[in-house]
Amino acid sequence: MILVTGGTGYVGAQVVLQLLAHGQTVVIFDNLCNSSRASLERIARLGGRRARFVLGDVRNRAQLDALFADFPIAAVIHCAGLKAVGESVREPLRYYDSNVGGSIALCQAMAAAGVFTLIFSSSATVYGDCATMPIDETCATGLPTNPYGFSKLMAENVMISLAASDARWSVGLLRYFNPIGAHESGELGEAPAQVPNNLLPYLLQVASGRRDVLQVFGNDYATPDGTGVRDYVHVMDLAEGHWRALQALLGGSGVRVWNLGTGRGYSVLEVVDAFTRTCGVPIALTFEPRRTGDVAQCWADPGKARRELGWQARRSLDDMLRDAWRWECRLAAEHRPIVYTTETSPTIPVAAAQAASGYAAV
Ligand code: NAD
Ligand code: UFG
Repeated sequence: MILVTGGTGYVGAQVVLQLLAHGQTVVIFDNLCNSSRASLERIARLGGRRARFVLGDVRNRAQLDALFADFPIAAVIHCAGLKAVGESVREPLRYYDSNVGGSIALCQAMAAAGVFTLIFSSSATVYGDCATMPIDETCATGLPTNPYGFSKLMAENVMISLAASDARWSVGLLRYFNPIGAHESGELGEAPAQVPNNLLPYLLQVASGRRDVLQVFGNDYATPDGTGVRDYVHVMDLAEGHWRALQALLGGSGVRVWNLGTGRGYSVLEVVDAFTRTCGVPIALTFEPRRTGDVAQCWADPGKARRELGWQARRSLDDMLRDAWRWECRLAAEHRPIVYTTETSPTIPVAAAQAASGYAAV
Protein backbone atom coordinates (compact mmCIF):
# COMPACT_ATOMS: atom_id res chain seq x y z
CA MET A 1 0.00 0.00 0.00
CA ILE A 2 1.22 3.51 -0.88
CA LEU A 3 0.54 6.53 1.32
CA VAL A 4 -0.14 9.76 -0.56
CA THR A 5 -0.15 12.80 1.71
CA GLY A 6 -2.12 15.65 0.17
CA GLY A 7 -3.82 13.06 -2.04
CA THR A 8 -7.08 14.99 -2.38
CA GLY A 9 -5.19 18.03 -3.75
CA TYR A 10 -4.51 18.98 -7.35
CA VAL A 11 -1.33 16.96 -7.98
CA GLY A 12 -1.91 14.32 -5.30
CA ALA A 13 -5.27 13.22 -6.75
CA GLN A 14 -3.68 12.57 -10.16
CA VAL A 15 -0.88 10.64 -8.47
CA VAL A 16 -3.47 8.51 -6.66
CA LEU A 17 -5.17 7.77 -9.99
CA GLN A 18 -1.83 6.68 -11.47
CA LEU A 19 -1.21 4.34 -8.56
CA LEU A 20 -4.71 2.86 -8.82
CA ALA A 21 -4.22 2.36 -12.57
CA HIS A 22 -1.10 0.34 -11.76
CA GLY A 23 -3.02 -1.91 -9.38
CA GLN A 24 -1.72 -0.37 -6.16
CA THR A 25 -3.76 0.12 -3.03
CA VAL A 26 -3.60 3.65 -1.74
CA VAL A 27 -4.28 5.50 1.48
CA ILE A 28 -4.68 9.28 1.31
CA PHE A 29 -3.83 11.42 4.32
CA ASP A 30 -5.01 15.02 4.04
CA ASN A 31 -6.35 17.71 6.35
CA LEU A 32 -8.54 19.12 3.53
CA CYS A 33 -7.25 22.67 4.11
CA ASN A 34 -7.08 23.18 0.34
CA SER A 35 -9.21 20.36 -1.05
CA SER A 36 -12.38 18.47 -0.29
CA ARG A 37 -13.88 15.00 -0.09
CA ALA A 38 -15.31 15.59 -3.57
CA SER A 39 -11.88 14.54 -4.89
CA LEU A 40 -12.40 11.10 -3.36
CA GLU A 41 -15.59 10.58 -5.35
CA ARG A 42 -13.95 11.80 -8.53
CA ILE A 43 -10.97 9.52 -7.99
CA ALA A 44 -13.28 6.55 -7.36
CA ARG A 45 -15.24 7.26 -10.55
CA LEU A 46 -12.18 7.67 -12.75
CA GLY A 47 -10.05 5.00 -11.08
CA GLY A 48 -12.79 2.38 -10.82
CA ARG A 49 -11.74 1.77 -7.22
CA ARG A 50 -11.65 3.76 -4.02
CA ALA A 51 -8.55 4.96 -2.22
CA ARG A 52 -8.72 4.76 1.56
CA PHE A 53 -8.91 8.16 3.21
CA VAL A 54 -7.71 9.36 6.62
CA LEU A 55 -8.38 12.93 7.71
CA GLY A 56 -5.27 14.24 9.42
CA ASP A 57 -2.42 16.67 9.51
CA VAL A 58 1.18 15.86 8.61
CA ARG A 59 2.36 17.98 11.54
CA ASN A 60 0.61 15.66 13.96
CA ARG A 61 2.97 12.82 14.99
CA ALA A 62 0.28 10.94 16.92
CA GLN A 63 -2.01 10.88 13.89
CA LEU A 64 0.87 9.77 11.67
CA ASP A 65 1.88 6.99 14.06
CA ALA A 66 -1.70 5.72 14.10
CA LEU A 67 -1.78 5.85 10.30
CA PHE A 68 1.36 3.72 9.97
CA ALA A 69 0.04 1.31 12.59
CA ASP A 70 -3.31 0.92 10.81
CA PHE A 71 -2.12 0.42 7.22
CA PRO A 72 0.63 -1.76 5.68
CA ILE A 73 2.40 1.19 4.05
CA ALA A 74 5.40 0.34 1.85
CA ALA A 75 6.24 3.80 0.52
CA VAL A 76 5.15 7.42 0.82
CA ILE A 77 4.49 10.11 -1.77
CA HIS A 78 4.50 13.39 0.13
CA CYS A 79 2.41 15.99 -1.71
CA ALA A 80 0.84 17.67 1.33
CA GLY A 81 1.87 21.26 1.80
CA LEU A 82 0.97 24.90 1.36
CA LYS A 83 1.85 26.43 -1.99
CA ALA A 84 0.69 30.05 -2.30
CA VAL A 85 3.77 32.22 -2.73
CA GLY A 86 2.15 35.53 -1.68
CA GLU A 87 0.54 33.97 1.37
CA SER A 88 3.92 32.56 2.39
CA VAL A 89 5.31 36.11 2.50
CA ARG A 90 2.48 37.22 4.80
CA GLU A 91 2.42 34.09 6.96
CA PRO A 92 5.94 32.61 6.88
CA LEU A 93 5.60 30.64 10.12
CA ARG A 94 2.56 28.78 8.82
CA TYR A 95 4.55 27.82 5.70
CA TYR A 96 7.63 26.65 7.59
CA ASP A 97 5.42 24.82 10.05
CA SER A 98 3.48 22.94 7.35
CA ASN A 99 6.13 22.40 4.73
CA VAL A 100 9.20 21.90 6.90
CA GLY A 101 7.65 20.85 10.23
CA GLY A 102 5.19 18.56 8.45
CA SER A 103 8.00 16.93 6.44
CA ILE A 104 10.08 16.37 9.58
CA ALA A 105 7.14 14.81 11.47
CA LEU A 106 6.42 12.58 8.49
CA CYS A 107 10.04 11.40 8.23
CA GLN A 108 10.09 10.71 11.98
CA ALA A 109 6.92 8.66 11.76
CA MET A 110 8.24 6.77 8.71
CA ALA A 111 11.48 5.90 10.49
CA ALA A 112 9.58 4.76 13.57
CA ALA A 113 7.41 2.54 11.37
CA GLY A 114 10.37 1.19 9.36
CA VAL A 115 9.24 2.77 6.07
CA PHE A 116 12.14 4.34 4.18
CA THR A 117 10.95 4.97 0.61
CA LEU A 118 9.84 8.55 0.08
CA ILE A 119 8.98 10.77 -2.86
CA PHE A 120 8.79 14.50 -2.18
CA SER A 121 6.85 17.10 -4.20
CA SER A 122 9.56 19.67 -4.66
CA SER A 123 9.67 22.58 -7.02
CA ALA A 124 11.79 24.30 -9.65
CA THR A 125 11.61 27.26 -7.31
CA VAL A 126 14.60 25.75 -5.43
CA TYR A 127 16.83 26.76 -8.38
CA GLY A 128 16.17 30.45 -7.75
CA ASP A 129 17.09 32.79 -10.60
CA CYS A 130 19.20 30.52 -12.78
CA ALA A 131 21.51 32.26 -15.25
CA THR A 132 21.41 29.60 -17.96
CA MET A 133 18.58 27.62 -19.50
CA PRO A 134 17.57 24.85 -19.57
CA ILE A 135 17.96 23.95 -15.91
CA ASP A 136 19.36 20.52 -15.16
CA GLU A 137 19.70 18.84 -11.77
CA THR A 138 23.37 19.83 -11.45
CA CYS A 139 22.41 23.53 -11.41
CA ALA A 140 23.03 24.94 -7.95
CA THR A 141 19.96 25.43 -5.86
CA GLY A 142 19.62 29.17 -5.64
CA LEU A 143 18.38 31.64 -3.11
CA PRO A 144 14.59 31.36 -3.24
CA THR A 145 12.81 34.69 -3.31
CA ASN A 146 10.05 33.85 -0.81
CA PRO A 147 9.33 31.70 2.28
CA TYR A 148 7.50 29.09 0.18
CA GLY A 149 10.64 28.51 -1.87
CA PHE A 150 12.80 28.37 1.25
CA SER A 151 10.43 25.88 2.84
CA LYS A 152 10.78 23.54 -0.16
CA LEU A 153 14.56 23.86 -0.14
CA MET A 154 14.69 23.30 3.62
CA ALA A 155 12.50 20.20 3.37
CA GLU A 156 14.77 18.87 0.59
CA ASN A 157 17.78 19.39 2.85
CA VAL A 158 16.11 17.60 5.74
CA MET A 159 15.65 14.58 3.48
CA ILE A 160 19.18 14.81 2.05
CA SER A 161 20.69 14.87 5.56
CA LEU A 162 18.50 12.02 6.66
CA ALA A 163 19.46 9.79 3.73
CA ALA A 164 23.14 10.60 4.35
CA SER A 165 22.74 9.46 7.95
CA ASP A 166 21.05 6.13 7.26
CA ALA A 167 21.42 4.02 4.10
CA ARG A 168 17.96 2.51 4.50
CA TRP A 169 16.40 5.70 3.13
CA SER A 170 15.57 5.87 -0.56
CA VAL A 171 14.34 9.35 -1.40
CA GLY A 172 13.24 10.95 -4.65
CA LEU A 173 13.08 14.73 -4.89
CA LEU A 174 10.81 15.58 -7.80
CA ARG A 175 11.29 19.16 -8.88
CA TYR A 176 8.09 20.10 -10.67
CA PHE A 177 8.18 22.89 -13.20
CA ASN A 178 4.71 24.37 -13.87
CA PRO A 179 1.98 21.74 -13.58
CA ILE A 180 -1.24 22.71 -15.38
CA GLY A 181 -4.14 20.93 -17.05
CA ALA A 182 -6.61 18.45 -15.67
CA HIS A 183 -7.57 14.83 -16.13
CA GLU A 184 -8.32 14.35 -19.82
CA SER A 185 -11.94 13.45 -18.96
CA GLY A 186 -12.36 16.98 -17.58
CA GLU A 187 -13.56 15.43 -14.32
CA LEU A 188 -10.62 16.09 -12.02
CA GLY A 189 -8.51 19.20 -11.79
CA GLU A 190 -7.49 22.16 -9.70
CA ALA A 191 -10.22 23.92 -7.73
CA PRO A 192 -8.62 26.95 -6.08
CA ALA A 193 -10.52 28.01 -2.98
CA GLN A 194 -9.02 31.53 -3.07
CA VAL A 195 -8.23 33.96 -5.85
CA PRO A 196 -5.78 31.96 -7.99
CA ASN A 197 -2.12 33.01 -7.93
CA ASN A 198 -1.05 31.02 -10.91
CA LEU A 199 -1.44 31.93 -14.54
CA LEU A 200 -3.63 29.13 -15.80
CA PRO A 201 -6.28 28.94 -13.07
CA TYR A 202 -6.63 32.73 -13.30
CA LEU A 203 -6.88 32.68 -17.09
CA LEU A 204 -9.52 29.94 -16.90
CA GLN A 205 -11.65 31.99 -14.52
CA VAL A 206 -11.45 34.95 -16.90
CA ALA A 207 -12.47 32.67 -19.75
CA SER A 208 -15.47 31.31 -17.85
CA GLY A 209 -16.57 34.78 -16.79
CA ARG A 210 -15.74 34.36 -13.12
CA ARG A 211 -13.15 37.16 -13.39
CA ASP A 212 -12.94 40.14 -15.71
CA VAL A 213 -9.41 40.45 -16.90
CA LEU A 214 -6.07 38.68 -16.80
CA GLN A 215 -3.25 40.80 -15.46
CA VAL A 216 0.01 40.04 -17.24
CA PHE A 217 2.82 40.69 -14.80
CA GLY A 218 5.62 42.29 -16.81
CA ASN A 219 6.09 42.71 -20.55
CA ASP A 220 9.63 44.05 -20.39
CA TYR A 221 11.57 40.88 -19.61
CA ALA A 222 14.45 39.83 -21.83
CA THR A 223 12.28 37.18 -23.49
CA PRO A 224 11.05 37.06 -27.11
CA ASP A 225 7.78 38.92 -26.39
CA GLY A 226 8.76 40.49 -23.05
CA THR A 227 6.52 38.27 -20.90
CA GLY A 228 7.66 35.54 -18.49
CA VAL A 229 8.53 32.12 -19.90
CA ARG A 230 7.75 28.87 -18.04
CA ASP A 231 7.85 25.14 -18.65
CA TYR A 232 4.21 24.03 -18.38
CA VAL A 233 3.76 20.31 -17.83
CA HIS A 234 0.49 18.36 -17.97
CA VAL A 235 -0.49 17.20 -14.50
CA MET A 236 -1.18 13.68 -15.84
CA ASP A 237 2.35 13.49 -17.27
CA LEU A 238 3.63 14.72 -13.92
CA ALA A 239 1.67 11.99 -12.12
CA GLU A 240 3.19 9.34 -14.40
CA GLY A 241 6.60 10.66 -13.36
CA HIS A 242 5.78 9.75 -9.75
CA TRP A 243 4.99 6.18 -10.70
CA ARG A 244 8.27 5.84 -12.62
CA ALA A 245 10.19 7.40 -9.74
CA LEU A 246 8.61 5.00 -7.27
CA GLN A 247 9.75 2.03 -9.36
CA ALA A 248 13.28 3.41 -9.44
CA LEU A 249 13.39 4.07 -5.70
CA LEU A 250 11.97 0.81 -4.33
CA GLY A 251 14.85 -1.27 -3.06
CA GLY A 252 17.32 1.57 -3.64
CA SER A 253 19.27 3.79 -1.30
CA GLY A 254 20.19 7.48 -1.04
CA VAL A 255 18.68 10.60 -2.59
CA ARG A 256 17.90 11.04 -6.26
CA VAL A 257 16.71 14.25 -7.87
CA TRP A 258 14.67 14.54 -11.04
CA ASN A 259 13.29 17.55 -12.88
CA LEU A 260 9.78 17.00 -14.15
CA GLY A 261 9.18 19.38 -17.03
CA THR A 262 8.83 19.23 -20.80
CA GLY A 263 12.04 21.01 -21.77
CA ARG A 264 10.12 23.71 -23.64
CA GLY A 265 9.22 27.16 -22.39
CA TYR A 266 6.18 29.25 -23.35
CA SER A 267 5.61 32.93 -22.62
CA VAL A 268 2.47 34.24 -20.97
CA LEU A 269 1.26 35.64 -24.30
CA GLU A 270 1.97 32.34 -26.06
CA VAL A 271 -0.19 30.58 -23.47
CA VAL A 272 -3.00 33.11 -23.91
CA ASP A 273 -2.83 32.80 -27.70
CA ALA A 274 -2.74 29.00 -27.55
CA PHE A 275 -5.76 29.02 -25.24
CA THR A 276 -7.78 31.25 -27.57
CA ARG A 277 -6.81 29.14 -30.58
CA THR A 278 -7.51 25.82 -28.88
CA CYS A 279 -10.58 26.64 -26.81
CA GLY A 280 -12.08 29.46 -28.85
CA VAL A 281 -12.33 31.99 -26.05
CA PRO A 282 -10.70 35.43 -26.26
CA ILE A 283 -9.05 36.59 -23.04
CA ALA A 284 -9.16 40.21 -21.92
CA LEU A 285 -5.80 41.21 -20.51
CA THR A 286 -3.90 44.16 -19.14
CA PHE A 287 -0.16 44.63 -18.83
CA GLU A 288 0.95 45.29 -15.27
CA PRO A 289 4.34 45.80 -13.59
CA ARG A 290 6.47 42.74 -12.87
CA ARG A 291 5.39 40.61 -9.91
CA THR A 292 7.91 40.68 -7.05
CA GLY A 293 10.01 37.55 -6.94
CA ASP A 294 9.26 36.38 -10.50
CA VAL A 295 12.08 35.19 -12.72
CA ALA A 296 12.10 36.03 -16.42
CA GLN A 297 12.35 32.46 -17.60
CA CYS A 298 12.52 28.95 -16.26
CA TRP A 299 12.49 25.72 -18.17
CA ALA A 300 13.80 22.23 -17.52
CA ASP A 301 16.31 19.93 -18.99
CA PRO A 302 14.25 16.79 -18.39
CA GLY A 303 16.98 14.49 -19.81
CA LYS A 304 17.84 12.86 -16.48
CA ALA A 305 14.27 11.70 -15.91
CA ARG A 306 14.19 10.39 -19.48
CA ARG A 307 17.44 8.47 -19.10
CA GLU A 308 16.92 7.14 -15.57
CA LEU A 309 13.14 6.75 -15.37
CA GLY A 310 12.16 6.37 -19.01
CA TRP A 311 9.81 9.27 -18.35
CA GLN A 312 9.00 11.97 -20.83
CA ALA A 313 6.11 14.42 -20.90
CA ARG A 314 3.89 13.35 -23.80
CA ARG A 315 1.10 15.89 -23.78
CA SER A 316 1.26 19.22 -25.66
CA LEU A 317 0.41 22.70 -24.43
CA ASP A 318 -2.83 22.48 -26.44
CA ASP A 319 -3.72 19.24 -24.62
CA MET A 320 -3.07 20.91 -21.27
CA LEU A 321 -5.24 23.90 -22.13
CA ARG A 322 -8.08 21.86 -23.61
CA ASP A 323 -8.23 19.53 -20.61
CA ALA A 324 -8.03 22.44 -18.16
CA TRP A 325 -10.83 24.25 -19.97
CA ARG A 326 -13.05 21.17 -19.92
CA TRP A 327 -12.55 21.02 -16.15
CA GLU A 328 -13.14 24.75 -15.66
CA CYS A 329 -16.44 24.53 -17.56
CA ARG A 330 -17.52 21.70 -15.28
CA LEU A 331 -16.55 23.70 -12.19
CA ALA A 332 -18.23 26.85 -13.42
CA ALA A 333 -21.41 24.89 -14.16
CA GLU A 334 -21.35 23.49 -10.63
CA HIS A 335 -21.03 26.97 -9.15
CA ARG A 336 -23.79 28.66 -11.07
CA PRO A 337 -26.04 28.02 -14.05
CA ILE A 338 -24.12 28.94 -17.15
CA VAL A 339 -25.36 29.13 -20.71
CA TYR A 340 -22.62 28.22 -23.11
CA THR A 341 -22.47 30.07 -26.35
CA THR A 342 -20.67 28.76 -29.39
CA GLU A 343 -17.71 30.89 -28.36
CA THR A 344 -17.36 29.37 -24.92
CA SER A 345 -18.39 25.77 -25.41
CA PRO A 346 -15.46 23.44 -24.74
CA THR A 347 -16.94 20.83 -27.04
CA ILE A 348 -17.37 22.92 -30.15
CA PRO A 349 -14.29 23.22 -32.35
CA VAL A 350 -12.73 26.64 -32.64
CA ALA A 351 -13.94 28.60 -35.62
CA ALA A 352 -11.21 30.10 -37.73
CA ALA A 353 -12.66 33.56 -37.21
CA GLN A 354 -12.52 33.19 -33.46
CA ALA A 355 -8.97 31.93 -33.61
CA ALA A 356 -8.01 34.88 -35.76
CA SER A 357 -9.43 37.29 -33.22
CA GLY A 358 -6.68 36.34 -30.75
CA TYR A 359 -6.58 37.79 -27.29
CA ALA A 360 -8.19 41.09 -26.52
CA ALA A 361 -5.66 43.51 -25.09
CA VAL A 362 -7.47 46.17 -23.08
P1 NAD B 1 -2.87 21.50 -3.39
O1 NAD B 1 -3.02 22.60 -2.42
O2 NAD B 1 -3.92 21.29 -4.41
O3 NAD B 1 -2.67 20.12 -2.62
C1 NAD B 1 -2.01 20.05 -1.39
C2 NAD B 1 -2.85 19.16 -0.47
O4 NAD B 1 -2.19 19.07 0.80
C3 NAD B 1 -4.25 19.73 -0.22
O5 NAD B 1 -5.19 18.71 -0.43
C4 NAD B 1 -4.21 20.16 1.24
O6 NAD B 1 -5.47 20.05 1.85
C5 NAD B 1 -3.17 19.23 1.82
N1 NAD B 1 -2.45 19.76 2.98
C6 NAD B 1 -1.87 20.97 3.13
N2 NAD B 1 -1.29 21.06 4.34
C7 NAD B 1 -1.49 19.87 4.97
C8 NAD B 1 -1.13 19.37 6.22
N3 NAD B 1 -0.44 20.11 7.12
N4 NAD B 1 -1.51 18.12 6.54
C9 NAD B 1 -2.21 17.36 5.67
N5 NAD B 1 -2.60 17.79 4.47
C10 NAD B 1 -2.23 19.04 4.12
O7 NAD B 1 -1.45 21.70 -4.08
P2 NAD B 1 -0.81 20.92 -5.32
O8 NAD B 1 -0.73 21.86 -6.47
O9 NAD B 1 -1.47 19.61 -5.49
O10 NAD B 1 0.67 20.73 -4.79
C11 NAD B 1 1.08 19.51 -4.23
C12 NAD B 1 2.52 19.65 -3.80
O11 NAD B 1 3.32 19.97 -4.92
C13 NAD B 1 2.74 20.77 -2.78
O12 NAD B 1 3.68 20.33 -1.82
C14 NAD B 1 3.32 21.90 -3.61
O13 NAD B 1 4.17 22.73 -2.85
C15 NAD B 1 4.10 21.13 -4.67
N6 NAD B 1 4.26 21.88 -5.92
C16 NAD B 1 3.15 22.33 -6.58
C17 NAD B 1 3.32 23.09 -7.75
C18 NAD B 1 2.11 23.64 -8.48
O14 NAD B 1 2.28 24.57 -9.25
N7 NAD B 1 0.93 23.08 -8.30
C19 NAD B 1 4.60 23.35 -8.25
C20 NAD B 1 5.71 22.84 -7.57
C21 NAD B 1 5.51 22.10 -6.40
N1 UFG C 1 1.40 35.45 -14.44
C1 UFG C 1 0.69 36.50 -14.94
N2 UFG C 1 -0.55 36.74 -14.43
C2 UFG C 1 -1.10 35.99 -13.43
C3 UFG C 1 -0.35 34.90 -12.93
C4 UFG C 1 0.90 34.67 -13.45
O1 UFG C 1 1.15 37.20 -15.83
O2 UFG C 1 -2.23 36.28 -13.00
C5 UFG C 1 2.72 35.15 -15.02
C6 UFG C 1 3.86 35.21 -14.02
O3 UFG C 1 4.32 36.52 -13.88
C7 UFG C 1 4.86 34.24 -14.66
C8 UFG C 1 3.97 33.19 -15.34
O4 UFG C 1 2.69 33.82 -15.50
O5 UFG C 1 5.60 34.89 -15.64
C9 UFG C 1 3.79 31.93 -14.51
O6 UFG C 1 3.35 32.29 -13.20
P1 UFG C 1 2.70 31.22 -12.20
O7 UFG C 1 2.29 31.97 -10.97
O8 UFG C 1 1.67 30.41 -12.90
O9 UFG C 1 3.90 30.23 -11.91
P2 UFG C 1 5.32 30.49 -11.26
O10 UFG C 1 6.34 30.06 -12.26
O11 UFG C 1 5.47 31.85 -10.72
O12 UFG C 1 5.31 29.51 -10.01
C10 UFG C 1 4.83 28.16 -10.09
C11 UFG C 1 4.28 27.76 -8.74
C12 UFG C 1 5.40 27.66 -7.74
C13 UFG C 1 6.48 26.77 -8.28
C14 UFG C 1 6.96 27.27 -9.62
C15 UFG C 1 8.00 26.37 -10.20
O13 UFG C 1 3.35 28.72 -8.26
O14 UFG C 1 4.88 27.06 -6.58
O15 UFG C 1 5.85 27.32 -10.51
O16 UFG C 1 7.56 25.08 -10.20
F1 UFG C 1 7.51 26.80 -7.41
